[in-house]
Amino acid sequence: MPKTSILVARAIFPEVLQSLEQVFEVENNQADEVWSPAELTRRMQGKVGALTTGSERIDAALLQANPQLRIVANMAVGYNNFDVPAMTAAGVLASNTPDVLTETTADFGFALLMATARRVTESEHYLRAGLWKKWSYDMFAGAEVHGSTIGIIGMGRIGQGIARRAAHGFGMKVIYHNRSRLTSALEAECKATYVSKQELLQTADHVMLVVPYSAESHHTIGAAELAQMKPTATLVNIARGGIVDDAALAQALAARQIAAAGIDVFEGEPSVHPDLLKVPNVVLTPHIASSTIQTRKAMAQLAADNLVAYLTRGQALTPLNTVPGAVA
Ligand code: DGY
Repeated sequence: MPKTSILVARAIFPEVLQSLEQVFEVENNQADEVWSPAELTRRMQGKVGALTTGSERIDAALLQANPQLRIVANMAVGYNNFDVPAMTAAGVLASNTPDVLTETTADFGFALLMATARRVTESEHYLRAGLWKKWSYDMFAGAEVHGSTIGIIGMGRIGQGIARRAAHGFGMKVIYHNRSRLTSALEAECKATYVSKQELLQTADHVMLVVPYSAESHHTIGAAELAQMKPTATLVNIARGGIVDDAALAQALAARQIAAAGIDVFEGEPSVHPDLLKVPNVVLTPHIASSTIQTRKAMAQLAADNLVAYLTRGQALTPLNTVPGAVA
């Protein structure tokens, strides 16, 4: 019997690809070419499943051109590259990779917070440029992290991981804002206090963004919000590009309206707003918050497992929608 055909749209770990090849006929992209939407649509022809990353957009036009498609498994917890209502309407199951990256991503949020507050990359650039000639009492004096107040916007699994690190590891006061409040048991475990967005922005020494991207969360932080923050405050975005208005942020950093920022995700990435590249008080990283070998392998494996589970047994492990024929 011929094997079911699937597409793996980006390069992945060879062992994960091999495990898929044991079950399916796989078209891969181990060359890791960046395909245009038209090329992605063309490559999907005849495929009943696909493994994507956050860079491949699955929308109504692609679905219409590929009525044979039954599942798209994203190798990411975020899925703003999926038009989930269109997928549901087309009977296409959507899945993502929650849980396996939570702690690693929270670690990175903290790494970026520390680097930002303590001016790690700015001072390293100074040293590498040969500018360090003497010790001085206020050289690269940054902001205190331990004992300060962290304000977390978006209190899902990763936000809670950040809160635990902050409260239990660094003795920080944790305030948060979220669409819905945590249970009192979770608030107690994270030592977190729910506040309004305005109170959070006005009070926090460090603002951490971990909110999923949607039309509602677009520009959660823009000029008006930056103006409410303390001039000594830092901002970290490990959520998604578009949560912050990057042009407004670059302006606020240049004007020292806030002290510093750490940014892992960008509007229109991999392009980065040119003004962000010009300001010294920002730490910039290329969307690597979940990037450890173990975690990226776990993400790839979970995406692959979703394809196998759904296409062989009708039951995905981490589905985002319900479609006819899927086993709950
Ligand atoms: C995620 O899982 O959403 C990360 O941002 C990697 O894309």
